[in-house]
Amino acid sequence: MAYEFIQTRVEGDKVGIITLNRPKQLNALNGELMREMGQALKEFDGNEAIGCMIITGSEKAFAAGADIGAMATYSFADVYRDDYITRDWETIRSIRKPVIAAVSGFALGGGCELAMMCDFIIAADNAKFGQPEIKLGVIPGAGGTQRLPRAVGKSKAMDMCLTARMMDATEAERAGLVSRVVPLDKLMDEALGAALIICGFGRLAVMAAKECVNRAFEGSLNDGVMFERRLFHALFATTDQKEGMDAFVNKRAAAFKHQ
Ligand code: HXC
Repeated sequence: MAYEFIQTRVEGDKVGIITLNRPKQLNALNGELMREMGQALKEFDGNEAIGCMIITGSEKAFAAGADIGAMATYSFADVYRDDYITRDWETIRSIRKPVIAAVSGFALGGGCELAMMCDFIIAADNAKFGQPEIKLGVIPGAGGTQRLPRAVGKSKAMDMCLTARMMDATEAERAGLVSRVVPLDKLMDEALGAALIICGFGRLAVMAAKECVNRAFEGSLNDGVMFERRLFHALFATTDQKEGMDAFVNKRAAAFKHQ
């Protein structure tokens, strides 16, 4: 499938990679780009061969936010009627296989929000995260005010949303926004390595783990623990559980069949 604003490829026959491709605009996110990304994510999610996805940008920018030029003349009626941007942005939340954000350079505004919608973030040492919407007279509109405090706590989230200051990769790792920081030239190797590890596990367990961790952000501790317990129980109905445990007991490598 040929896209205009993204590029897609498959690595190792099992990892779907989506590269944002508006380098001159620092990958500013316009409606068409988000539609294309949603379509690519859904295609990878529905492809039996794919076990994990990676979203990445360019060295200079993962994405510098929603396209300000496109937004500049919108009225309240325009954005409210069209539920501006969010409808296509929601697609990523329905993706059931893991999605890793491999971030180098700027991840600002909608770019930071997109990275936070992924399941985890691996950052290059030149990454910079921020929610600078306040400088434009608006606020984050794709979950930034909700996901950022959950990731880094209220104080840092308020600081970033109210002063528009950026967080560098070191601070982002220390604060828990990103899971790993690596040198820029190792970013894709690291992300691909993580993705291939995930692909090697039983897919049902991988999907269940993703669903459970997401629950931690969406409900009470009680509900989350119960949800986790039931999915944990359910995995005992899979062949992968028999295979994984038998392999450990018999000191051999597991060969998961995703069943
Ligand atoms: C449109 C953008 C853009 C953006 C950069 N560009 N960010 N175009 N929308 N968000 C364009 C510039 O206009 C410029 O185009 C080219 O990319 C290079 O950018 P420069 O500013 O020249 O680069 P630099 O000096 O290195 O500064 C980088 C930067 C700065 C610090 C990232 O570009 C910047 O502050 N960008 C805006 C960041 C921002 O405010 N993001 C939040 C957007 S609101 P030309 O044609 O001049 O070369 C948002 C809301 C989300 O995201 C809500 C979701 C529903």
